[in-house]
Amino acid sequence: MGYERMWEPGEPGVPVDLRPDVPHPARMYDYYLGGKDHFPADRAAAEKALAANPEFRSTARANRAFLTRAVRCVAALGVDRFLDVGTGIPTAGNTHEIARSVRPGAKVVYVDNDPVVLSHSRALLAGTGLGRTAVLRADLREPAGLLAAVEDAGLLEPGRPVGLVLAAVLHFLRDEDEPYGAVATLLDALPSGSYLVLSHGTADFIPAAVRDRVTGIYDRAAAPLVGRSREEVGAFLEGLEVLDPGVVPVPLWRPEQPPGPGADRVGMYGAVARKP
Ligand SMILES: C[S@@+](CC[C@H](N)C(=O)[O-])C[C@H]1O[C@@H](n2cnc3c(N)ncnc32)[C@H](O)[C@@H]1O
Repeated sequence: MGYERMWEPGEPGVPVDLRPDVPHPARMYDYYLGGKDHFPADRAAAEKALAANPEFRSTARANRAFLTRAVRCVAALGVDRFLDVGTGIPTAGNTHEIARSVRPGAKVVYVDNDPVVLSHSRALLAGTGLGRTAVLRADLREPAGLLAAVEDAGLLEPGRPVGLVLAAVLHFLRDEDEPYGAVATLLDALPSGSYLVLSHGTADFIPAAVRDRVTGIYDRAAAPLVGRSREEVGAFLEGLEVLDPGVVPVPLWRPEQPPGPGADRVGMYGAVARKP
């Protein structure tokens, strides 16, 4: 029997607080991507971030394009179960659509901690094949609880490889949130032959003053923005077999067209790796 678990606004015991007055990274990201699911506070903060670093918009687009290529690659390698943590507000080319373009029977569990993301995902999933997609509210900072919710959804099967997608989400975890431990806990629960699709923001290519302005804007939002260096991003892949071309700015990860000027300085690293 299929299973579809979605958090419902107003569900007893679940606090409903969209906090439209507090800029939220998911809605700011939607604004960068040209979506329409944001409040004035999100737009104002996103405009400030764009004023500090106008490349945020092109970086968000490059990240979505990376996600498409990377999920397609993993599906082509035989994976048909995906766990996408930090889903984001649905936009063009969502993980289940990308995966099913290669493997029509692919099943996807989406996880996000933002109620706005969940209510939009519920609308997106209406009619997309009950029992093949689930949307869960859980927090990457509590990986054990997240895994329990995923298991409860019943879409992933023991022993069957999973494509774990952590795209543009780990940079919302401070070091004290133990992002490396969270990734290790998730990977430990997945069988050999699973893949990690990772993208992560970096300040490697911008002046420190710009980085500090952007950090200040996100410090006043619902989650901080913690850029990590190439080496720090690579450390998430410890113990995994990293696919070519390794950890690179997202436009350089297996591009389908020649990368444009400045592609090697786009502030988001991407990588795909296999669990041995
Ligand atoms: C920038 S969006 C990325 C969306 C999509 N993965 C992509 O790459 O296009 C980051 C998402 O991560 C979610 N997020 C941030 N912190 C999280 C946490 N601790 N646990 C779960 N989701 C989180 C946000 O709500 C947001 O939807």
